[in-house]
Amino acid sequence: MSIRARVTGTGFFVPDNVVTNDDLAKLINTNDEWIQQRTGIRERRYVPEGMSNVDMAEHAATDAMKEAGRTASDVQALLAATLSPDYTFPSNAPFIQERLGIRNAPAIDLRNQCTGFLYGLATADVFIRSGRYERVLLVGSEIQSSGMEFADRSRDVTVIFGDAAGAFMIEKTEEPDRGILSFALRGDGRSADDLATRAERAYEMPRLSMEIFESEDIWPRMKGRKVFLEAVRELPEIINKALERAGVTLDDVDLFAFHQANLRINQWVASSMNIPDEKVWNNIERYGNTTAATIPSVIHEARQAGFVKDGSLVCAAGFGAGFTSAAVIVRW
Ligand code: UT7
Repeated sequence: MSIRARVTGTGFFVPDNVVTNDDLAKLINTNDEWIQQRTGIRERRYVPEGMSNVDMAEHAATDAMKEAGRTASDVQALLAATLSPDYTFPSNAPFIQERLGIRNAPAIDLRNQCTGFLYGLATADVFIRSGRYERVLLVGSEIQSSGMEFADRSRDVTVIFGDAAGAFMIEKTEEPDRGILSFALRGDGRSADDLATRAERAYEMPRLSMEIFESEDIWPRMKGRKVFLEAVRELPEIINKALERAGVTLDDVDLFAFHQANLRINQWVASSMNIPDEKVWNNIERYGNTTAATIPSVIHEARQAGFVKDGSLVCAAGFGAGFTSAAVIVRW
């Protein structure tokens, strides 16, 4: 009997505070028409003052565990994907662990940005199929708003990001043909500097100074056009690789859950692969790019809307900083 990893509960959390394109246009030189035309984004959510990454993670994780009928004592390993941890060190996972009351379990951060949750699914899959763990909690949580520069030189980056958290409870199953069927992961470090926040750097002495603090290195910088072109080239390749490994075809897939970096990227990929619109769930218009929280947000919403049921075949895929790409095929 072969072992697989199956998602038994999902959770998603966004703060109440809606920030529209018009709100941003009051702070920087941008406008609703440009943002909607180039990205598809209408609004995003920002945390209220005092709400932490761990606060959001707690909401999403609690809902995922509840749906699975699990409590903290059932969790054997905790994986936390984020690029915006509450502390520089230790990692975010121990804080989430403490908040949820999880004991005697490894708590690990995954620093893979937009593909972080997908890398987390792959890690959970391997942990479970190896026989080492039976129940893994995976959380993706991001506060992007506190890391954005509200100045014209950063307007290409600032308008696309938002805050959110998502979580999956993932468990061992021996049901045939159910759970995570395959994954494909890729990285290309040649482009690591093309989408990055360069400060703080350990090789600077000291690593934070007034000089660095006043430089643009403390803000995220992105070669947007390059990211766009690489994403539309890479996503079909990584999706096809994962489908091939799962032994299924593109037509077998019921729902495509793409990372939400730019609606135009997803439309481009869907049209180049002849994927019909009704098989793609996008929520970027409401939340922007929430990095490691995006994939669980899309799947959670698609489930709630009835687009993912028991037996549905889901293809989740993303591309982002690193550059990294990933695709995961799941039979729900
Ligand atoms: O998850 C992270 C991965 N990131 C991505 O996947 C992002 C991929 N890239 C993109 O989504 C697009 O490159 C952007 C949406 C970020 C930018 O769109 P673009 O069509 O590539 O625009 P651009 O950067 O080439 O800029 C075109 C023009 C420039 O003005 P000029 O030089 O033509 O006068 C920019 O200054 O648009 C201007 N611009 C803006 N105007 C209004 C850039 N950002 C803005 C803005 N509002 N927010």
